[in-house]
Amino acid sequence: MSNTVNPKNNADSTYNVLNSIVGYQEAVADKAQWEKDGSDLIELKGSVDVTVATLHPKRLTLEVSKVIEETPSTKTIRFISTGAPLPPFQAGQYINLFVDIDGVSTARPYAISSACDEKNYYDLTIKRVTDGFVSNHLLDNVSQGQQFLSTGPMGTFYYNPLFHGEDLVFLAGGSGVAPAITMLKDILSRGSKYSFHMIYCNSYIDDLIFINELRSLAEQYPQFRLTEVVSRPPANFEGFKGHLSADLIRNTLGSIENKLFYVCGPTPFNDYCIGQLKSIGVPNKRIRLEANGAPKNPQQLSDWPTTIDAEEVMVTVTGRGSFKAKIGEPLLNSLERNGYSVENACRSGECSLCRVKVISGNVFNPPEAHLRKSDKTFGWVHSCVAYPTEDIEILF
Ligand code: FES
Repeated sequence: MSNTVNPKNNADSTYNVLNSIVGYQEAVADKAQWEKDGSDLIELKGSVDVTVATLHPKRLTLEVSKVIEETPSTKTIRFISTGAPLPPFQAGQYINLFVDIDGVSTARPYAISSACDEKNYYDLTIKRVTDGFVSNHLLDNVSQGQQFLSTGPMGTFYYNPLFHGEDLVFLAGGSGVAPAITMLKDILSRGSKYSFHMIYCNSYIDDLIFINELRSLAEQYPQFRLTEVVSRPPANFEGFKGHLSADLIRNTLGSIENKLFYVCGPTPFNDYCIGQLKSIGVPNKRIRLEANGAPKNPQQLSDWPTTIDAEEVMVTVTGRGSFKAKIGEPLLNSLERNGYSVENACRSGECSLCRVKVISGNVFNPPEAHLRKSDKTFGWVHSCVAYPTEDIEILF
């Protein structure tokens, strides 16, 4: 058998591939026209940048148009744009909201809980958390008319019809239901071949956010199944009483074949769900995790250095100054509390916007840090999930 490549066949197949690309013929015709007219395309200069900036703006100025009480511990804050129309987003994405609290400039990512086809506002659904710095501040202080800066919509935790298939399961814990409801509405709008099963876990019945809407959608759409799990329910609760478990997942779903699992909730809930899914044989590639937020306590992780007994370390920012940072606090938070501003978005090690270079000293990087090989080689860390374990010098 000959391995010789026939140049003509090669040219034919390239031609066929190019012609199968939508818009290729139109581009060829445009090129021919420009050549004929003598244009050097100067009239298009900058138009791509303008389009990108419109779809993916670095900053939005948002105004609170409404505050909706969802449960005793949760509010939905509705934001409208004060300027250009809000950019589109994919169901499951978040915006990073910038706030100033008692002289500290910081930010937190919140999933958008309004539907993707709602063009006039973004809803952010925020739950009170023990010792929550930003969430609790927003719940207690935000009112209609206040303005905030945010990033545009970001993140990779969204439904992708090409790769995720049509059989979807969402394990939502507490306010993790925010991206779930947006994804659900998006999926339902795509038609009946999609199946979406939400397993929604909470401690108390009063914590169930959007529950009337979810129950109503479950009655209305046969392809949407809702399983409610409450660990401390009242006697008359009709859902599952107790904690989510591998058995509950398997018994509720039957087969796990070809299902795509989304997981979103507090960090301990996420870790627990991943363990349960793996124990019933769900492969990593069929699990999508949204983890907005740093590990709650890195000192409880197994590879945290046990030799540290200091409570503070000195952080020096090359050419700018020094400050003391608490052991166990994310470096990004320490920087912000001391007046340094670092670009950031996910605050969970994913996006790498918050990278700083460690010039000297040691920093603990938990598994969430997702450091690239080149980061490790050249000393870059993601400051949102980096924890100094001794005096350090950094550059950014
Ligand atoms: S803010 Fe995204 S990795 Fe730190």
